[in-house]
Amino acid sequence: MNPSIKTTNLQKTFTLHNQNSTELKVLKNINFSISPGECVALTGKSGTGKSTFLRMLYGNYLPTAGSIEILYNDTYFDLMNCLEHQVIYLRKHAIGYVSQFLVVIPRVSTFDIVSNTLKQQNTLEDNSNEKISHLLETLNIKKNMWHLPPMTFSGGEQQRVNIAKTFIGNYPILFLDEPTSALDKENTEIVLELIKSKLNKNVAIITIIHDATIRNQICTREFNLENFTEV
Ligand SMILES: Nc1ncnc2c1ncn2[C@@H]1O[C@H](COP(=O)(O)OP(=O)(O)O)[C@@H](O)[C@H]1O
Ligand SMILES: [Mg+2]
Repeated sequence: MNPSIKTTNLQKTFTLHNQNSTELKVLKNINFSISPGECVALTGKSGTGKSTFLRMLYGNYLPTAGSIEILYNDTYFDLMNCLEHQVIYLRKHAIGYVSQFLVVIPRVSTFDIVSNTLKQQNTLEDNSNEKISHLLETLNIKKNMWHLPPMTFSGGEQQRVNIAKTFIGNYPILFLDEPTSALDKENTEIVLELIKSKLNKNVAIITIIHDATIRNQICTREFNLENFTEV
């Protein structure tokens, strides 16, 4: 099977321009790949570069060297040579990113935040409202909250809205940064089941989950970034 993502000799050094151009060497020589249906956990001590690696794969951070290829619709996109509109296209259709904290436009209701993903992917249909309702119910977001913006929700509720916003979509690749960090045991199990059903649909998932017992329930492989830190 063709990998969903391939990196070749990926390297990241930060240059701190307001600190006498101090160079912070973070990651080097990362040759990574992930196949459809795989769930890979990024591991390594805090500050190793897990978030940096995910941000490079999402096109947020420009690598210092190396390449990143993203598979979408049988075509490989060379991320570093993509035009801006191609990066936006990949984010709309190929890669769903559940960030650690929910970032949304103020005053948009919870229901609309989730439905906007379908709008973006051009997959809004007659039965979409049922699909959205079903997902919000599965994630235990109370019905009387659906018309409210999630700004005032608890951390756990915001995290579940964040998951709903991405999981409603039809992305072949998902990045999950600590997707269960604010959840109780019951809701963690629910989210793990949703992740498993994505894997059954051959979605490739890269995740950061600190709790090894949770990680082991879904991840097929660990990728320890400590092996790629610069010294
Ligand atoms: N935008 C940035 N500018 C400068 N340094 C950064 C930036 N982002 C991350 N770093 C540095 O890169 C290193 C790795 O950070 P990060 O990827 O957040 O680690 P992790 O997610 O594994 O805890 C840290 O030393 C951090 O200070
Ligand atoms: Mg991090």
